[in-house]
Amino acid sequence: MSENNSGFNSYFGFLMAAIGSAIGFGNIWGFPYKMGTHGGFAFLICYLVLCVFVGFIIMFGELFLGRREQKGPVGTYMMVGKRNNKNFMFMGWLAMLSAVFLMGFYCTLGGYVFKYMIANLGSMFHASWGVNADAATYFTTFVTDQGQAVIWAILFVVVTALICIGGVSGGIENFCKIGMPLLFLILIIMIVKAALLPGSAAGFAFIFKPQWSALAGKSLITTLGSAGGQMFFSLSLGMGAMITYGSYLGKNNNLQKSSITIVFFDTLAAVMAACAVFPAVFAFGLEPAGGPGLLFVTMQNVFDSMGAVGPLFGFLFYLLTTIAGVSSSISLLEVATVSLQELTGKGELKDGWSRMKAILVSSAIILVLNVIVAADGLGGTGMPQPLGFCWLDFFDLFSEGLMMPFGALVMALIIGWITGKDAVLAEATLEGEKFPAINFYMFCTKIIAPIGMAFILLGQIDSFFSLGLFS
Ligand code: TRP
Repeated sequence: MSENNSGFNSYFGFLMAAIGSAIGFGNIWGFPYKMGTHGGFAFLICYLVLCVFVGFIIMFGELFLGRREQKGPVGTYMMVGKRNNKNFMFMGWLAMLSAVFLMGFYCTLGGYVFKYMIANLGSMFHASWGVNADAATYFTTFVTDQGQAVIWAILFVVVTALICIGGVSGGIENFCKIGMPLLFLILIIMIVKAALLPGSAAGFAFIFKPQWSALAGKSLITTLGSAGGQMFFSLSLGMGAMITYGSYLGKNNNLQKSSITIVFFDTLAAVMAACAVFPAVFAFGLEPAGGPGLLFVTMQNVFDSMGAVGPLFGFLFYLLTTIAGVSSSISLLEVATVSLQELTGKGELKDGWSRMKAILVSSAIILVLNVIVAADGLGGTGMPQPLGFCWLDFFDLFSEGLMMPFGALVMALIIGWITGKDAVLAEATLEGEKFPAINFYMFCTKIIAPIGMAFILLGQIDSFFSLGLFS
C-alpha cells in the first residue's frame, strides 16, 4: 500500500488503533476531574466547541498529511517542505522529541497501573497478596520504593516494545481490535456498578451539574484554557501520531468521517470514565481529586470500601486503564520508531534503520528516561530536581506543555497557508467523496485553530509555571 509497507489490515483496525491512541490516561484521570471542577456541563460544552473548531480541524489535518505523503512525521514534513521550497525539518524533530519525552514518563505511570492491576488481582485470592495497607500509605510506599517502581516501568516499556515489534497490523492493530471493545465493555460494567451504589447521584451531579458561572467573565478564559489543554492532549494531537497512523490509512477511506469518529469515541470514553469514577467516589464519601491521586489513591479507596467484590472491580478498573495506556504508548513508540527510521534514511523509511533497530534504540532511550522518572517517585525520594519540577512534570512540561501545542499550532498554519485548499480537497475527495464544509475547514485551519492553539499553548505555560494569567 505504501512505503510503510506494513499498514493496517482493515479500516476497523485503523479506527481502533487511532481511537486507542487517543484514549489514554488523559481520559481517565484528567477529563473527569476537570469537568467536575470547571463547570460540569458548561465545561463539556466548551470542550465540544473546541473539538469542532480546533480538535477536529487538526485531527483531519494530521490524517490528511500522513495519508497524502504516505510517510511518518519526518518524511511528511520533508515532503511538504520540498513541495513548497521550504524547510520544515524542525517539525519532524519536534514530533520525535515530543513522543520520546511524553513516553519518558507515560511508561512510569503505566508501570504504576500494571502494579495496581496485579495487586488487586492478588487481593482476590489472599488479602496479604495485594493492596494491604490504607490506599494513601500504600501508594506513597510503592512510588518511593525505587526498585519496585523502576521494575514496573521497565515492564511497561518492554510490553510496549514487544507489541510494536509485532508490527503495525500484527501487533498494534491486533491489540487495539480486541482492546478497544473490551475497554468500552469494562467502562459499561463500571458505570452500572457505580450507579447502583447508594449515594452515587451526588457524583453525577458533581460531573454534570451546569455551573454557568464557569462561562461568565474571566472564568470563561480559565474554563476554555482547561478544556483546550485537555482536548488536544486527549486527542493525541501535535506530535504526528495521527500523521503516522494516517500514512497507514487506505486511499479509499473517508478522511472526514475518520476524523469525526476518532474525536467522537475519545470524547465518549472520557465522559464514560467520568460516569464510572465520580459516582463511586461520592457514594463512599470520598473527596474528588485529579491526577495520580485520583487514579491510585481515591479509586483504590473506592475499591477498598466495596467489600468482598472490591478487588474484582479494582482489577477490572486497572485493566481498563492498562488497555487505555498501552494502546496510547504503542502509538507513541510507533511515532518515535518511524521518525527515527526516516531521520536515518533522510526522509525515506527504506533507506534508514530497520524497524527492529529503530524500535530497540527508541525503547532504550525511553527506558532510561523512565528509570529516572520512576526512581524520582513523583519527587518523593529526594533526588535532585530540574528547575524545581519533579522529573515527571519536567518531561511533561516539554512535551504536553510546550512542544505538542506548538507542533499543532504550526501544522494548522502550514495546511492553511502553505498546503492550501486545492491540495486538501484533492486528497479528501479522491474517491469522489463530498466535502461540503471545505470553506469552513480552510477558514478554521487558517485562523481559528491557530488562535485556539496559541491560546492553549499559553494556557499550558500558565498552568506549568502557575503564572495566574488564566485564573
Ligand atoms: N491521548 C493520550 C491520553 O489521553 C495521550 C497522548 C497525547 C498521546 N499525545 C499522544 C498518545 C500521541 C499517543 C500518541 O492519554
